[in-house]
Amino acid sequence: MAALAAASSPPTPPLSPVEATSSLIAASRYAISLVSPEYLNDTYAEYFTDTTSPPAPCSPLSLSRIAVRTRFFDTVLSQTLPHVAQILILAAGCDMRAYRLPIPPELPIFEVDLPSVITYKQRVLSTIPALPPRNVTHVSLDLISPSFLQTLAATTSFDPTKPTLILAEGLLYYFPPPQASSTLAQLAILPSSLLCFSAVSPPASTTSKSRSLGELFKWRTNDPAETARSAGWTYSRAFTYRDKPGGCDSYLETLSPPLPNQPSPTSTFYTIATTSPLLFTPFSPPSLPPPKPLPNNTTCAVIVCGKALVDCVATAELEGRVERAVQLCDGLRDGGCNVTLILSGGRGEAEEMQRVLDGMKNSTTVACVEKGSNTTRQNAVECKKLVGDTVTMVYVVTSGYHVKRAVHVFKREWRAGIEVEGYGDFWTVGEKVQKHEDGHRDRPPDSEVGASVE
Ligand SMILES: C[S@@+](CC[C@H](N)C(=O)[O-])C[C@H]1O[C@@H](n2cnc3c(N)ncnc32)[C@H](O)[C@@H]1O
Repeated sequence: MAALAAASSPPTPPLSPVEATSSLIAASRYAISLVSPEYLNDTYAEYFTDTTSPPAPCSPLSLSRIAVRTRFFDTVLSQTLPHVAQILILAAGCDMRAYRLPIPPELPIFEVDLPSVITYKQRVLSTIPALPPRNVTHVSLDLISPSFLQTLAATTSFDPTKPTLILAEGLLYYFPPPQASSTLAQLAILPSSLLCFSAVSPPASTTSKSRSLGELFKWRTNDPAETARSAGWTYSRAFTYRDKPGGCDSYLETLSPPLPNQPSPTSTFYTIATTSPLLFTPFSPPSLPPPKPLPNNTTCAVIVCGKALVDCVATAELEGRVERAVQLCDGLRDGGCNVTLILSGGRGEAEEMQRVLDGMKNSTTVACVEKGSNTTRQNAVECKKLVGDTVTMVYVVTSGYHVKRAVHVFKREWRAGIEVEGYGDFWTVGEKVQKHEDGHRDRPPDSEVGASVE
């Protein structure tokens, strides 16, 4: 408890609002570790948390985001560790990943943050008993500086010629946009390295909460993977809250009782960027389960349901749907089927999906666009008008959370006997429409239908 007393007394010098976010994150990790230690057990977060006063109110949604984010960065570190010679943790704040995770004691780890935060962290670290041995160097640096890598190399044993894992968790959105881009570009010169960074989208609504966050967040993007590529990283991929890359599962599903599926004012992205194909392999998009073989010349429609655009631009999730649909079309064609791809969605969604399709380098797939629908039922009705009489097999590509319901809606709106299969983010369902003698069709039980989260 002496450690806690030391940690809770005001640090010297006092932390600015941006610097103070480091201890807010630690307090969140402390709260998560109390509620769901099986998901995240950060035993050190307590030392950075004032446990003597009531915790600041924190929504379940933001706690779950921190939990997912922490697990994502932990997973990336574990997967990349065998391939790198050093770890660079930018804006390390009160993050204790260097000690929490099993890292070889000799591997150089460089933790960079602003001077006040480094002073505070070192003070708290000195009070924690029995820290595991680690080769950590704390570096006080302003990461906005265009030459921070040179300064790092000049003042420490950091070697810019060695493969490096770079973590920038909860940092770049505090930077003005030109600095966020130039920081990404500055880091891209490190050879055979992998960068993992978080980013946030522009707010979809202006709640009071997002306004207050907006004061601190300066750089926002809907496409951090593209920003990374423009900054010189060859391979990049942005994961969102719902993705399940390499075992990074969704915290929402592990909480008991489950968290409400609240619409969120912003999207958070966890982005991997690298110049090394080897390092990128574990994070490359998962391949689809192959479509089940169909008789030669079966006519199929692959229908991508749209999703609300943000600032008139497709979200990473919508881009992912188009990519999945193209993979599916390729697989079906290879199996001898005749395939029509339909990009379906009003309010500019179909056109945006077409833009995504046009930008896909290796695809020759041609699509029809259906621009009149704003609901899943309308997707089904309008696409049926386009190709309904000619196809015998329909594939609906939509969100993994929505796919069962979408399949149900399509089956209801299309004709009996047609097969409808759903392709979601990470799971697939498919069954034949059952038509009874009296003409009614089976509906799945309500529990299977599920509420739309879109
Ligand atoms: C939200 S905290 C994240 C801390 C840590 N990465 C974590 O996830 O626990 C943001 C951190 O960015 C640091 N930071 C913000 N601007 C910085 C800058 N220009 N140079 C260095 N660090 C900065 C802050 O001091 C703070 O520690």
